[in-house]
Amino acid sequence: MAFFYLAWLYTLATLYTVVSSTAIVGSRVIGIPTIPYNASDGGGTYTFSNIKSVIVDEAYTGWVDNTGETLIPRTLHQFGGLFFSDILTIWQVQNLSQIDAAAPEPHCVFLTISENYPYKYANGEPAAEAYELEVTTEGITIRGASPLGVWWGTRSLIHLALLSRGNIPIGKSVDVPGWKIRGMMLDAGRHYYPSEFISDLCAYMSFFKQNTLHLHLSDNLYNNVKLYSREQSLSLYARFRLWSDSSLVSGLNKFKNESYTEEDYNSMQLACASRGVTIIPEIEAPGHALPIVQWKPELGLSSDLSLLNISHPETIPTMKTIWVTFLGWFATKTVHIGADEYTGDVGDYNHFVNEMADFIRAHGSKDVRIWGTFPPKPDYQNIDQNVSIQHY
Ligand SMILES: *[C@@H]1O[C@H](CO)[C@@H](O)[C@H](O)[C@H]1NC(C)=O
Ligand SMILES: *[C@@H]1O[C@H](CO)[C@@H](O)[C@H](O)[C@H]1NC(C)=O
Ligand SMILES: *[C@@H]1O[C@H](CO)[C@@H](O)[C@H](O)[C@H]1NC(C)=O
Ligand SMILES: *[C@@H]1O[C@H](CO)[C@@H](O)[C@H](O)[C@H]1NC(C)=O
Ligand SMILES: *[C@@H]1O[C@H](CO)[C@@H](O)[C@H](O)[C@H]1NC(C)=O
Repeated sequence: MAFFYLAWLYTLATLYTVVSSTAIVGSRVIGIPTIPYNASDGGGTYTFSNIKSVIVDEAYTGWVDNTGETLIPRTLHQFGGLFFSDILTIWQVQNLSQIDAAAPEPHCVFLTISENYPYKYANGEPAAEAYELEVTTEGITIRGASPLGVWWGTRSLIHLALLSRGNIPIGKSVDVPGWKIRGMMLDAGRHYYPSEFISDLCAYMSFFKQNTLHLHLSDNLYNNVKLYSREQSLSLYARFRLWSDSSLVSGLNKFKNESYTEEDYNSMQLACASRGVTIIPEIEAPGHALPIVQWKPELGLSSDLSLLNISHPETIPTMKTIWVTFLGWFATKTVHIGADEYTGDVGDYNHFVNEMADFIRAHGSKDVRIWGTFPPKPDYQNIDQNVSIQHY
């Protein structure tokens, strides 16, 4: 991976050097996102090329934070190692060392944890992603509320070093995200993106401190029921992107070369987690469900084959079989079951969402999200309140 990402970092470094006359305006670092930064009253800068080592506080090397969405949270040591290799790549330095030690040495970036920060997300929960970044004449310290907080601090440090052309103003930042879920959705259903692309995408997102990639894994082109015959609908572009050799789902996916095998999925999920990004997978039903209907045409609503006929006795069992096949792949506390733009019966829809959510909780101990196509209204109040509705 990382080829395009790293090439892009060089470009970015060059661009920043060209466009920026100053890294700090007022008490902000004008990066993306902008962060608070108080330059010291005495002025002065620290020359980043003087850094000799990245030191991970040995008291916290194996520390992990389990409060995020990921089930594979990285240790402080792992984040430290990747930060170290980012420095080598961006600045092409050879003589930097990476060590674990109890205390900072002169001219190091010291990575450590503070166990009792008061910082909170906007909703009042403790902000595990908070960090402090302190630049002195002796070197740099990043102190996170968690290893992930430290990681975001390393992103800020890279921004600062690039923006200041290597002469970082002495000073201090306290940076706390307001929102615990920050990210974007990629439609990998209607278009195939290789797993290496997804891994690279996470590296970009991480550079901008986004922590969630919602990956839409099944969908179809618009099924125009006014124009298309049944045969046309059944041959319309529709894809299910996960590939399993299990006989239970044999025929669901007919396009292995544009799919994610378990190995592909693991590798992109791990690459993303290594940079603090959690993939939230989405398998879409009962709308946008033509890939499933092309597999089992009897499950389509006769009025629109891209919608499942929830009252058909095999529909919910089929969706449960699909989820059971893939649930174990997803190293996340939350999955997305779609439930977007269903124009069939509302009662059936409510039943489908609640039944699938209970099933996924029982079989995967995971929380469930759905799309919020419709504003809350009496007909929809039967969606269990422990299902998250993601509005758009
Ligand atoms: C590390 O290498 C750079 C050039 O690559 C040099 O300018 C710097 O002085 C070296 N630092 C140390 C501590 O040897
Ligand atoms: C930066 O300065 C402001 C204003 O004096 C102060 O409120 C804030 O706590 C300072 N932040 C840090 C990180 O020192
Ligand atoms: C997958 O195979 C199809 C059919 O041979 C081909 O059109 C498509 O370009 C292939 N996709 C990739 C990513 O290689
Ligand atoms: C849905 O399935 C049920 C049970 O098989 C069937 O009776 C009904 O006609 C189907 N409805 C539509 C609109 O396809
Ligand atoms: C979710 O809410 C429903 C309806 O109130 C309830 O039956 C179910 O037990 C809840 N599940 C969890 C895990 O809280």
